[in-house]
Amino acid sequence: MHVLVTGGAGYIGSISVRSLLDAGHSVTVLDTLERGHREAVDARARLVVGDVGAREACLSALEGCSGVLHCAGYIDVAESMREPELYMLANAVRPATLLGAMAETGISSFVFSSTAAVYGEPQWLPITEDHALEPVNWYGRSKLAFEGLLDTNGRDLGLRSVRFRYFNAAGAWPDGSLGEAHDPETHIVPRVLAVAAAGGGEFEIFGEDYRTRDGTCVRDYVHVMDLAAAHLLALEALEGSLEGGTFNLGNGQGYTNREVVRECAQVTGVRIAETVGPRREGDPAKLLASAELARTVLGWTPRYGALSEMIAHAWAWHSAHPEGYRSA
Ligand SMILES: NC(=O)c1ccc[n+]([C@@H]2O[C@H](COP(=O)([O-])OP(=O)(O)OC[C@H]3O[C@@H](n4cnc5c(N)ncnc54)[C@H](O)[C@@H]3O)[C@@H](O)[C@H]2O)c1
Repeated sequence: MHVLVTGGAGYIGSISVRSLLDAGHSVTVLDTLERGHREAVDARARLVVGDVGAREACLSALEGCSGVLHCAGYIDVAESMREPELYMLANAVRPATLLGAMAETGISSFVFSSTAAVYGEPQWLPITEDHALEPVNWYGRSKLAFEGLLDTNGRDLGLRSVRFRYFNAAGAWPDGSLGEAHDPETHIVPRVLAVAAAGGGEFEIFGEDYRTRDGTCVRDYVHVMDLAAAHLLALEALEGSLEGGTFNLGNGQGYTNREVVRECAQVTGVRIAETVGPRREGDPAKLLASAELARTVLGWTPRYGALSEMIAHAWAWHSAHPEGYRSA
C-alpha cells in the first residue's frame, strides 16, 4: 500500500508512519508542521508541507496513494474552549477539502483519528461504541462534527471509512527515538515525566474527591504503538472487504491519576511529590473503553497493555529528548 498520513509529523502520526514503513508500505506525509516536527518524519517518507484544507496540497500529496490515515488536527481541550471556531475549522471544516480531493482522485479508504471525547460524561462503563454522543468540550464536538461529515458527505463521495475513538494515548517508540512533543503539553504522562527529567519535584493532581478508589480520576491508557497497529489493520481491511466502522481503542483497564504519578516515580527512580489542586472543569471521574469490536472485527490485540511499559517507553524518549525534537 501507499498511504497518505496527514499529521504525520505529530505524535501519533509520526509513529504510525514509521510502523507503516517498517511493515513494507510506502508513505506520504501531509503536515503544515505548525504543531508537528520535521525531525519526527521518517526519512523514507515523502513529506508534503501543506494543509488538509488546501486542495492543491491534498491532490499533490495523494498522488500514488491508495489510502489515507487522517491524524492531522488540533488536540488541546482547554484551547478548544477558548477558541471554538478555530477547532471547528481545524478539525471539521478544513479536512472536508481532503475528502473532496480523495473523491477526485478515486481513493476511497479513509482511517480517522477520532477520540473518546465524543462521548462526554459516561452513562455506563466500559463505554461501548453505541454510547450516547454528548461531548462536553469543543475539541470533542469538532471531532464528532467530522464523524458526521464522514457519515453523510463521505458516503456520498463513495468513501469507506474507519473511525477510531482513542482513549488516552501514551508511550513512545520503544527505543525512545520518537515520542510525544506538544507545546503546551496537557497529557499527564509527559507532564509527570517532565518533572522527573528535571530531577524531581512536585506534581499537581486535579482533584481528589471523585468517587474512585483513591479519589482521583481514572483513565484508560493505550500505547501509541498499539494505535499504529490498529491503523495498519484498518487500512488492510479497507483494501479488502471492510466497508467501514467505528471502533474504540483502549485497554479497558483504568489507572487513577495517583497511580500514574506513582508508576512514573517507580519507572524513573525519581522522587515525585503529589500535591492536590482543584478539580479541572469537564473531567469525568472515570473513562474506560470497551474495545471488543476492534478485537473481533479487526483482530486488534494490544501488545503493550501495561501502564509500566508505556511509561518506560515514554521515559526512554523524554530522558533522551528533554527539549523534545529540539534536543535532537
Ligand atoms: N494524543 C492523544 O491522546 C489523542 C487521543 C485521542 C485522539 N487523538 C487524535 O489523534 C490525532 C493525532 O494526535 P497527536 O497527539 O498526534 O497530535 P499532534 O498535535 O502531535 O499532531 C497533529 C499534527 O497535525 C498537524 N496539523 C494540524 N492541523 C493541520 C492541517 N490543517 N493540515 C495539515 N496538518 C495539520 C500538526 O502540525 C501536527 O503535526 C488528532 O487528530 C487527535 O484528535 C489524540
